[in-house]
Amino acid sequence: MEREPIGVVGAGWVGLVTSACFAELGHEVWARDIVPEKVESLSRGEVPIHEPGLSELVRKNAERLHFTTEMPDVLSHAQLLFVCVDTPPTYSGDADLSRVEAVMRELGDSDEHALVMKSTVPVGTGRSVQRRRDSLGYVSNPEFLQEGSAVADFMNPDRVVVGANGGSEEYADRVAAMYAPLGGEIVRTDVASAEMIKLASNAFLATKISFINEIANVSEELGADVSEVARGMGLDNRIGPKFLQAGVGFGGSCFPKDVLALKQLAGNSGYHFQLLTAVVEVNELQKRRTIGKLQKHLGSLAGKEVALLGVAFKPDTDDIREATSLVLAGRLAGEGASVRAYDPVAGAKAEDMLAGARIADSALEAIDGADGVVLVTEWPEFRELDWTGEVKRRMRVPLVVDGRNFLDREELVEAGFTYEGIGR
Ligand code: UDX
Repeated sequence: MEREPIGVVGAGWVGLVTSACFAELGHEVWARDIVPEKVESLSRGEVPIHEPGLSELVRKNAERLHFTTEMPDVLSHAQLLFVCVDTPPTYSGDADLSRVEAVMRELGDSDEHALVMKSTVPVGTGRSVQRRRDSLGYVSNPEFLQEGSAVADFMNPDRVVVGANGGSEEYADRVAAMYAPLGGEIVRTDVASAEMIKLASNAFLATKISFINEIANVSEELGADVSEVARGMGLDNRIGPKFLQAGVGFGGSCFPKDVLALKQLAGNSGYHFQLLTAVVEVNELQKRRTIGKLQKHLGSLAGKEVALLGVAFKPDTDDIREATSLVLAGRLAGEGASVRAYDPVAGAKAEDMLAGARIADSALEAIDGADGVVLVTEWPEFRELDWTGEVKRRMRVPLVVDGRNFLDREELVEAGFTYEGIGR
């Protein structure tokens, strides 16, 4: 079956995964990015993102992947334009749609193209675009990719959401047909509902995390073990075991942004979304409580050496956007502690982001002489450390705050560590 050529606007994490996967499915892809260096390195098959399987896919499909800085290259080859530009929150929490506006301006008054919106945008964006540009097709096709498993997520979707109104149904049919080979439910709906599905899904996942974090906090007071509680809860098929991992809070480029965007959107529409206010507050609380666990054993942190294990917002990525580590490093420096942080891949990126913290080249270097260690990101290699031997020998005070309940508490306690978990 003839695969139609497609355009991708924005070759960042989402745009690149989308381009590589559609190329893998047999489509010619014209991907545009405004950063020349990025286009040059991508054209050489060099992928500037740590995402398992992505660079292999880009190299394997090189002959179908065309990277350019020029929008006319894209417009002359493709009608469906998958918009994958970032829509970061403004100071007020609203989504900054300037990059989407720029794309629309570059489209001129074309009536031959359709925007297929992959970027997360406020509910109502599609309607306002179509009101202003009724010659432009518009399809909402939000992404549900998790960093670290994005290629697998794209190729094995739980569901694909395709939202369109009136005149864009034909474009929506073509978008839906592109996903048909992947399996997974294809949800055909209107644009506003498609936009809301994305925001509501992320907000719900963030809510689930803040909920289990509060259960963890109250479990500490009542002597329950939140890992056991989560195990028992998760067996209920209405709850499910995923996203019940208590910890130092959620980070990343999506959850914090999308929760704020939905809260702001609701507020702007006259509805006070009370739950999301609490979700954000609990997420902040987890960071304060982490500092508090260190102070509980060390007293004042002034002059103390604290090691952070993990900088990336989660394992299997080098992404440090909204990472908990950045907040903790800043707070610890504010308390007068000196901080050394180590991350298997994200360390270099964080050099100038970790207020006052020094980046160590290894976990043991970060731990050397430390009065306390905080496990912030659950990289598997941190479990392999020789905690009862080398680690304990190097630390000035054997205190560990296990921010992801990731380590073997019994082993550490037996070896003489003071162990603080989250909710256990
Ligand atoms: C998320 C959504 O999962 C994805 O569907 C959406 O498209 C983009 O945002 P991502 O941000 O890549 O994906 O990471 P995710 O794996 O969802 O984790 C987000 C944050 O939540 C991380 O900081 C992680 O540490 C934290 N988390 C996750 C928890 O604290 N507990 C959990 O149980 C799960």
